[in-house]
Amino acid sequence: MAKRVCPYWLGYWLLNPLRRLIHNPDQILDPHVTRGMTVLDIGSAMGFFTLPLAHLVGPQGRVICVDVQEKMLHALQNRAQKAQLADRIITRACEPTSLGLADFYGQIDFALAFAVVHEVPDVPNFFQEVSNLLKPEAGCLLAEPKGHVSAQDFEATLVLAGHAGLTSVSHPLITWSRTALLKKGKA
Ligand SMILES: C[S@@+](CC[C@H](N)C(=O)[O-])C[C@H]1O[C@@H](n2cnc3c(N)ncnc32)[C@H](O)[C@@H]1O
Repeated sequence: MAKRVCPYWLGYWLLNPLRRLIHNPDQILDPHVTRGMTVLDIGSAMGFFTLPLAHLVGPQGRVICVDVQEKMLHALQNRAQKAQLADRIITRACEPTSLGLADFYGQIDFALAFAVVHEVPDVPNFFQEVSNLLKPEAGCLLAEPKGHVSAQDFEATLVLAGHAGLTSVSHPLITWSRTALLKKGKA
């Protein structure tokens, strides 16, 4: 069965400032992101996490955002312009079955995949591409909504990540979410 992609209108709902009460971007991202990093926001939508990531990486850093919906990325670009952060944010539209970011292979210091993997049709290829994108020992924070993803399905997802060389090293506490910090190349 085809997986359901988050509708465009929900992109605005995801930006609701009240969401910060349960998903505080600084608290979630601070432990993983430092200035100058090149980070990847996978399934960024309109950029709830992208702008905080852009602040954290600073003027020398880059945030690469990839999403299947161009309209989401246009809204993100507008928000980035208004926040004067557009110069450190790169947006790319992708196909459902491939992130299409081969030109960034081996360059990513940290990747965020927040509430996106349950929408991805080819999860093994998704994790293989994330693994190719990360530098050795770089991390990917995976968070999936408990309302959509059962504990059993999340465990199955982690197995697929492991097949791509991404090992779960911890489970950061994030409200309403099943999480794993995946590291490339950790046994
Ligand atoms: C539920 S939203 C989460 C948005 C954002 N990460 C957040 O937490 O605010 C999922 C996003 O992933 C995107 N998406 C769905 N399937 C995708 C795929 N195969 N590759 C890249 N992005 C995808 C959707 O278009 C949508 O913008």
